[in-house]
Amino acid sequence: MIPGRQDFTDGRTAPRVDDTKDAGKVRVYQVAKDLGLTNKELVTKVQSLGIEVKNHMSSLDLDDVQRVKRALEKERQESLVEERLSPTGVLARHDVRARALEGLDQEIKVLRGEVPQTVLVRDHEREYEVDLRRGQKTGRFLDQRENRSAAAGYARGRLLDCFSYDGGFALELAARCTEAIALDISEEAVARIARNAERNGLRNVRATVANAFDFLREAERAGERFDTIVLDPPGFARNRAALPRALGGYKEINLRALKMLNPGGTLVTCSCSYPVSEELLLEVVQAAALDARAVVSLMEKRMQSRDHPVLIGVPETHYLKCLILRKLEV
Ligand SMILES: C[S@@+](CC[C@H](N)C(=O)[O-])C[C@H]1O[C@@H](n2cnc3c(N)ncnc32)[C@H](O)[C@@H]1O
Repeated sequence: MIPGRQDFTDGRTAPRVDDTKDAGKVRVYQVAKDLGLTNKELVTKVQSLGIEVKNHMSSLDLDDVQRVKRALEKERQESLVEERLSPTGVLARHDVRARALEGLDQEIKVLRGEVPQTVLVRDHEREYEVDLRRGQKTGRFLDQRENRSAAAGYARGRLLDCFSYDGGFALELAARCTEAIALDISEEAVARIARNAERNGLRNVRATVANAFDFLREAERAGERFDTIVLDPPGFARNRAALPRALGGYKEINLRALKMLNPGGTLVTCSCSYPVSEELLLEVVQAAALDARAVVSLMEKRMQSRDHPVLIGVPETHYLKCLILRKLEV
């Protein structure tokens, strides 16, 4: 950072700070130039944000410059959405936990137009009912979209999809399998799996409300066997302090899955906890494989879909890890 300058993050030239007599302020003509506005347009914008305009406004506080910049950025994003997608409605899901941590309001509100409770969404070959307000995330786990397609290439025989939500993996893989069990702890989600299976003419899908930990334990005891197993649990570790317990959870489900997987079968195992690195997930799976006396080969290391960018300078953005593994016949 150059002393006396306030850096912006978008690469635009930052306004010069007059550090001789007006420290902490930026010249209006300079701000207007940087933001691509005339002085008059900038003053109008400043007034519309309720920022006090002093007589013959010649400079602005840095905080106010940032407020103007944020407002312009929001307008630009909204007009881009309008131009590219012409949506009939825009719904803000401001109910994510991260907002609460930042002291921001928790709300779900319609920003524009009309937004129905549910919509039908086409994803690859299938159609899904999505509950926009009550569904998890945006109503659908779009970050697993590419991983579901990749997993479909390996699927066969008996499929078990644990932590299935609305049947994302199960429904995409079911056509290649003889039977698919899709389970989730949420009754609402499981009712949607059943409706989605019917809507897509998939008769071999059994949707079940269950705690995956209990189901896996009981199925193992009962001697069940599968050819394809998907484990896509919720994030077990939200922070580093929760890691030891979380790793125990990942190991337990992977161990049971590997025991029940037929030789030659495929395990798709995921973690969306950012503190669990890909390396750590591999270590946990290897520990589970040792306990299960299974020899496992790694077919693919994957991550979230491309439209959920991973910034190489911000490791936390690589939150979703997805391993596709084969249990070898030995
Ligand atoms: C990451 S989401 C799964 C997304 C899904 N696989 C997909 O592709 O759309 C995790 C799911 O696990 C479910 N869940 C959380 N705890 C569970 C448990 N103990 N047993 C079964 N399901 C659970 C949640 O209801 C949620 O639907």
